[in-house]
This record gives sequence, structure tokens and C-alpha cells, in this order.
Amino acid sequence: MKEMAEKTLEDIPGVGPAIADKLREAGYTEIMAIAVAAPKDLAETCEIGEKKAMDIIEGAKLVADIGGFETGDVIQQRRAAVSKLTTGSKAFDELLGGGLESQSITEFFGEFGSCKTQVCFQLAVNATLPEEKGGLDSDVIIIDTENTFRPERITQMCNYLGVDPDETLKRIHIARAFNSQHQVLLVDKALELAKDIKVRLMIVDSLTSHFRSEYLGRGALAERQQILNRHMHDLLNFATVNNAVIAVTNQVASKPDAFFGDPTRPIGGHVVGHTATFRIYLRKGKAGKRIARLIDSPNMPEGEAVFMVTENGITD
Ligand code: GTP
Ligand code: MG
Repeated sequence: MKEMAEKTLEDIPGVGPAIADKLREAGYTEIMAIAVAAPKDLAETCEIGEKKAMDIIEGAKLVADIGGFETGDVIQQRRAAVSKLTTGSKAFDELLGGGLESQSITEFFGEFGSCKTQVCFQLAVNATLPEEKGGLDSDVIIIDTENTFRPERITQMCNYLGVDPDETLKRIHIARAFNSQHQVLLVDKALELAKDIKVRLMIVDSLTSHFRSEYLGRGALAERQQILNRHMHDLLNFATVNNAVIAVTNQVASKPDAFFGDPTRPIGGHVVGHTATFRIYLRKGKAGKRIARLIDSPNMPEGEAVFMVTENGITD
């Protein structure tokens, strides 16, 4: 994996600095992305001939690290290192089989005000806790696309848990993503940061808002899904490399979505759904209660948990 990371586009036979720049500008920043590209797309977006595009793709296949097969015992060993991060609510943790799993992506989806962001804040605080308290004893990265990070909320949650708010805030690294492209690039930045400090929780809140507002109409759907797909795989790569928990949020369309029609369907469709290991639907209940519903888990039954959101954060 390291070796692959050190290779640049210029290592592809037939790709010089000028073409490499064109490729990067068109969003083909990784050798793998080029290796699996369609010649026609590459030719169009980079304004090169189709024959040239085919040669570049063939070259990329040669240098790309396609990877091989792993035996079950190797995967078992890696799975043995999986940790669980507490949500702060026992019922919620039980629904997930003990908490959010590392090496996976957990998606929280729901309407506005369904507490997706509140859950993210709580996870950020909890991740800094020692492992015996359900934490990961680690720093946290938040990619904030809606400018909703509130240090005051973190402080309230810390006070309730009896941990130092200032020390905790120092361990939470926030980046505003100004558009979807910036959001994608921030994952690369996060990988760099995680080489120097231990980061075992990354939050993307919201995963889909920029994509939704930038790619409008059916004509943009294929491109949106392609970029979102790559973004999800970058996140999964971060999760694997750092044995990290990835939590992402996703709104449901409040009015029928032009793409999917169904008003309760989360944005991003199959791309997000298939890459996220756990999908949790959040909704409001009576008297300040919130309900989490687990959907599509590989090893847990579907079910619901009731929790509370108060000034103290997420509790039972
Ligand atoms: P969008 O990002 O708009 O889609 O919504 P969201 O799902 O992220 O909702 P968010 O997490 O922002 O939830 C907001 C809700 O959290 C509010 O309506 C309140 O019910 C609750 N909340 C936030 N802060 C507090 C607090 O200090 N005390 C209590 N009791 N509730 C709070
Ligand atoms: Mg929010």
C-alpha cells in the first residue's frame, strides 16, 4: 500500500507532466482511478485522443497495485483488531453490538433536526476517552460541510462526563469543506495528519449536502455517483489504514427527490448504501426521545433503540 502511495501519475508510461496536470485537473488524481476509467471519458475530460487515452489506461493498469487475494485467516486477524466506540447510550450501543465499529463506515441518516450532528459531537468527545470507557483514546477529524461545529456543545458534553473541555477540544481537528471537491481532497489531508497523530475517528457531516446542491438534475447523476463512490472508498481506506471509525451523515429528501422519488430515501442511493457497513435511521420520538433504527447490518439483526438528547449529550 505504501509503495502504491509513493507512485505518481508521471510513473504511468506515456504520461508526462503536461498530461499529468490535465488528468489531475479532470479529477483523476490516482493511478487506480485511471486504470479503471473508460477510454471515452478520459479522452473527453482531458481533451486527448481516444487512442492516447487507451494507452494511458493500459499503462495505468501496469503500474496500479490492483491487489490480490487475502486468505480468511488474515482477514480474521485484522477483524480481531476491531474496536467499538460508544455512542453514550447503552441501548444505542447494544443495537450496534457494542458501539460503532472501527474499519467500517457508519451512516446516520434522517430528516433535519433528527440529531445527526448531535450524535457526531458525542462520538467526537467519546473517541477521546480511554478504551475502558468506551473510547478510542485518540484524536478526531471532522469534515464539516455545513458549518455546524459548536465548541460550546462539546464543552457541555465534556462537563457532564467530567473531562477537561479544553484538552478535548485540542484533540478535535475540524476542517470546513467549501464544496464537494474540497471535501474529497480533505480525506487525503486527513490521511497525512493521521501519520503524525493517532486518529481513530473521522466524521463527515454532512456526506451528501454539497453533492446534492452541486449536481442537479438527471444529467449530473452519473458523475455525482461516481465521485461519491470514490469518496466513500477513500473513507473506507482511511478506516482500514488507521483502524478507525468513520461516521457520516446523510439527509433524507424532505420532498420527493428528483432522482429517487421516495421521500424517505437517503441521498446518495446505492453508492452510499452499499459502502456503508452500518446504516442507522434517526428520527424524533415523543418527549425529546430519539429513535435509532439499524438497517442493513452484516452481522446484527435489524432493530430499534430509544435514546435521549439533552444538554448533557446522548444518554439513555
Ligand atoms: P440537519 O443537519 O439540519 O439535517 O439536522 P441534524 O440531524 O444534524 O440535527 P441536529 O443534530 O442539529 O439536532 C438538533 C436538535 O438537537 C435540536 O432540535 C434539539 O432537539 C437537539 N439539541 C441540540 N442541542 C441541544 C441541547 O443543548 N439540549 C437539548 N435538550 N437538545 C439539544
Ligand atoms: Mg446536522
